[in-house]
Amino acid sequence: MSEVLNIEKIGQIRGNVISEISKLRSKDEISNLRIKYLGRKGIVSKLLRSIHEIPIDQRKIFGQKLNILKEELELLFEEKSNEGFNEFDQFNKEKSLQDISLPGRKGIIGNLHPTSKVVREICKAFTPMGFQIVEGPEIELDKYNFELLNIPKDHPSRDMFDTFWVDWKNDKDEYPLLMRTHTSPMQARVMEGSIPPIRVLVPGKVFRYEATDASHEWHFFQVEGLAVDKGITFADLKGTVYEFARAIFGSERKIRFRCDYFPFVEPGVDVSIDCFICEGGGCRVCSKTGWIEIMGAGMVHPKVLSSVGYDPEIYSGFAFGMGVERIAMLKYGIEDIRLFYSNDLRFLKQF
Ligand code: DAH
Repeated sequence: MSEVLNIEKIGQIRGNVISEISKLRSKDEISNLRIKYLGRKGIVSKLLRSIHEIPIDQRKIFGQKLNILKEELELLFEEKSNEGFNEFDQFNKEKSLQDISLPGRKGIIGNLHPTSKVVREICKAFTPMGFQIVEGPEIELDKYNFELLNIPKDHPSRDMFDTFWVDWKNDKDEYPLLMRTHTSPMQARVMEGSIPPIRVLVPGKVFRYEATDASHEWHFFQVEGLAVDKGITFADLKGTVYEFARAIFGSERKIRFRCDYFPFVEPGVDVSIDCFICEGGGCRVCSKTGWIEIMGAGMVHPKVLSSVGYDPEIYSGFAFGMGVERIAMLKYGIEDIRLFYSNDLRFLKQF
């Protein structure tokens, strides 16, 4: 021990601290060095604790010197801390090749896909009228996609829907699974699981086994609507569609209903709005007719109501379905539906 404790040793420690302290570049470094010497297990603290090992006659002088050293070091550390480090300068000195004042690289911020944007807008138009948003499965049973919607097996109305069948047979040797061709199966699913009044909106992806061209894709989005209650009439359908068309295409819109055939509604209609580009005069967008088709709709067929266990004498309802990309194309003047899913950022970034 006495080998450690001699006057020279104290001088050496002082010298070491002074030279080490001059190299310090941050508060962290000061704190570490302070701990090394003055911390509980630090060099100076240990020496002070072992002072009793010194012969009595030298103990006092050593004690005094060590205490003076301790005080001096405390002061040095404090002064160094007060120097007010400019840590950026220190950092730059050390890493002179890096210029941290250069502006950083901008992260790429994406935007909503035009389809998502329009789905949200459509939902926003219907929710104030009390419609709830629900979603359904993209792989669907034949039963919901067709049969419960009054589209029996081998009926010609199935030809309206070019279908992707899933390669899986049940024990009756049937292919009951398919990629849903429309969002209408959710009409049956929702009715099956609830008691009227019902007001739902079903956005979702659908699939068709079709060749693609400027107005056809093999997958696209639809939004389905369904309202069922006692005493729902065609006037309710009309009012609801009016509200929607005006929210999306402007408050001046007129609506036209024409008879159309969809197996799950009776009467069935196709709904058009007056052309918002030419105001009805006739242009390219409306094919010179002054009208633009926006959706199919109708009163829920009594057979559909009974197939899910509702009494059509008590309940009635309306339904509608629209293609989201078609609405987006009209709204934004997009001429080719294939642009939506070809992942060209020049297109997608515009929304
Ligand atoms: N599901 C039809 C289709 O994909 C669209 C449709 C028409 C939905 C009339 C409806 C409706 O709910 O009433 O072509």
